[in-house]
Amino acid sequence: MNIVVGVTGGIAAYKTVQLVRLLVKDGHDVHVVPTDDALRFVGAPTWEAISRHPVTTSVHDDVARVRHVALGQEADLVVIAPATANTIARMAAGLAGDLLGTTLLATQAPVLIAPAMHTEMWLHPATQANVATLRARGVRLIGPDSGQLTGDDSGPGRMSEPDAIHAEVGRLLAAAQDLAGIRVLVSAGGTREPIDPVRFIGNRSSGRQGIAIAVAAAERGADVTLVAAHVEEGVLATVPDRIRIHHAGTAAELGERMTALAADADVVIMTAAVADYRVATVSDRKLAKEDGAPTLALVENADILAGLAATRRPGQTVVGFAAEMPTDDETVLERGIRKRRRKGADLLAVNEVGWEAGFERADNTVAVIGPDDAVVAEATGSKREVADALLDAVVDVRR
Ligand code: CTP
Repeated sequence: MNIVVGVTGGIAAYKTVQLVRLLVKDGHDVHVVPTDDALRFVGAPTWEAISRHPVTTSVHDDVARVRHVALGQEADLVVIAPATANTIARMAAGLAGDLLGTTLLATQAPVLIAPAMHTEMWLHPATQANVATLRARGVRLIGPDSGQLTGDDSGPGRMSEPDAIHAEVGRLLAAAQDLAGIRVLVSAGGTREPIDPVRFIGNRSSGRQGIAIAVAAAERGADVTLVAAHVEEGVLATVPDRIRIHHAGTAAELGERMTALAADADVVIMTAAVADYRVATVSDRKLAKEDGAPTLALVENADILAGLAATRRPGQTVVGFAAEMPTDDETVLERGIRKRRRKGADLLAVNEVGWEAGFERADNTVAVIGPDDAVVAEATGSKREVADALLDAVVDVRR
């Protein structure tokens, strides 16, 4: 595999020498891209000798090969170790002032960072916000560990040990293309059921979780089709071109699209928040106050997930989501277990919702219930991290 190791200006750079050795020993083609600051800790000759490739920090060397983008385009994985607070901030902002910056913007490969800094810098709200931004974009983190730092101080901020980073690289490379050749169909967002030409019954789904699943599946090699109900402004802009997008407004439209597209899918994931009811008679005219307060009669929509599960082809995996609140006599998980059985899905990802949790946020917490009612995966973190945990469960259940 082709691995780029970015090294930034922290004393822990000396430990990265060992990481590069381990990766070269595994037979990987390793390109070290240090920042200028990093070279004050460990010099270019060391990196060149152990990686067996030329090392530069500048976008102006090897211009004929367009090295400033080629390294990123050709990489199967990018590891930044150590990742300083400054580097994390530059990554969050997308700055491309040196070879490492351009490489990071040019790559579609998974990116793993191993932060290293003093505890105060790690805990600073600016660093924490930057880390959250990177996690939401799919960047993986390892560490920082807690322990003795460079001076007399100790606390969280130590770079993870080279062995641990090396093991994580192995896991990421193994997972990198585990959905290759698999056709994944995902629904996202909330349906809107019209009342009259200008009004609808909707819900607070932003579409972020479903889109995170679609993007993660595509990065893991799947051929992905996304059916988007109403999603928050801007979230579709993060979807790469290779994902086909269909649009659906109402539950009925979403049901039709999903049923038709499911014929060609190996994995179907219903992340959309589907309205359980629609208005029985949609008014052709905009309802006016002078008509008096309306009474809306509702009729039940078909359960799309249950229908997809009932008609699934052999070998097809059907996955649902459940947004639950605990009741006096049932936990969120117990409700999820019942719902998975009722709908007949292979996997059901359950998350707790309320006024504060679940919707319109970057972070999410889910438990994935498997075919025998056991929790097969749990994840708390960015919607991308939840997406990867769910896809891990999909890969497992298909084995
Ligand atoms: N779902 C569906 N069709 C519907 C309603 C829901 O396909 N008409 C799917 C959702 O996409 C989700 C799962 O079913 O994957 C669970 O959705 P949820 O709203 O939690 O379930 P409901 O069936 O609406 O159950 P509840 O009575 O708890 O509202």
